[in-house]
Amino acid sequence: MDLEELRTLAREAAGRLEALDSPETLESFRVAYLGRKGKVTLLFEALKSLRPEDRRTFGQELNQVKKVLEEKFEAKRASLSGVPKKNEEFFDPTLTGLRRPHGRLHPLTQTIREITAIFERLGFEVVDGPEVETEFHNFTALNIPADHPSRDSFATFYTRTENARENPFLLRSQTSTVQIRVMEKRKPPLRVIAPGRVYRPDQVDASHSFMFHQIEGLMVDERTTFSELKGVIHLFLRRLFGPDTKIRFRPHFFPFTEPSAEVDVSCFLCEQKGCSVCGGKGWLEVLGAGSVDPLVFEQVGYDTKRVQGFAFGLGVERIAMLRHGIPDIRLFFENDLRFLRQF
Ligand code: PHE
Repeated sequence: MDLEELRTLAREAAGRLEALDSPETLESFRVAYLGRKGKVTLLFEALKSLRPEDRRTFGQELNQVKKVLEEKFEAKRASLSGVPKKNEEFFDPTLTGLRRPHGRLHPLTQTIREITAIFERLGFEVVDGPEVETEFHNFTALNIPADHPSRDSFATFYTRTENARENPFLLRSQTSTVQIRVMEKRKPPLRVIAPGRVYRPDQVDASHSFMFHQIEGLMVDERTTFSELKGVIHLFLRRLFGPDTKIRFRPHFFPFTEPSAEVDVSCFLCEQKGCSVCGGKGWLEVLGAGSVDPLVFEQVGYDTKRVQGFAFGLGVERIAMLRHGIPDIRLFFENDLRFLRQF
């Protein structure tokens, strides 16, 4: 055995040690190299037969090899057993922990959850409907006939299908589609709320987006009058905007409700003195509503003599913008953390 061979042995042992992955292989390594008959131990015997002048250098190097291997062996043993080496890790339970940064809900999700929570307490159930819809659900069943001019402002993205002419699909332009979906499947009494995305062929600017969110509400029962609608809307808007909020119903037209109204809340920013948010008017428009038109009930096979209903729809972005003073709808969709972190 000369120095070269000793070094080769040392490298070989270190390599094998490195590759060990269980307590059993660890033990067989110890026997093979460091045990009483191990390769390294036996070399100490061989020392005796060396010439005295070689014995010194070889002995020194051998001692060094043994020491390094033993250290590495101990480290490996510790890492395999999962027990930290003495003094290497010290756990102090009284120290404050590391604070991990965590995410948060998007302001629109927060707004949707806040609004649906209010309605859930009024006994409304949250339901869902598809974003890719049929013309029937988006228009026809909602009493918007094929030649009705209001289809134009709602004609969104049509998808091609085999029989595109008779039965095209399009991205829904309003969550009112879910009114139809629910009534097709279920019988009254119904009290549902449907949040979701809608799409419109709008030019994007500070207050318009080709995609935004709405929340639809629908209640159908034997007696569900316009005054019930007013009661529910009052309750909801006061919970959302504060107990002193004034509420105004303005006559309006929607094809699927009759009578219909647009609903305003008193401007909470200027207390109706007039400001830039309400455009000096003192009122903010927040939703559309009305009694379900019997023609809609006919489309889903309900007995128009026996049921009454009301429906409403609101824009989530608009509500969030008003409440938080957000000046531009595009901010919701840009994923700029400097904006999102504020909510
Ligand atoms: N779907 C209407 C809109 O998008 C809102 C609405 C819903 C109006 C339900 C009345 C009843 O403008």
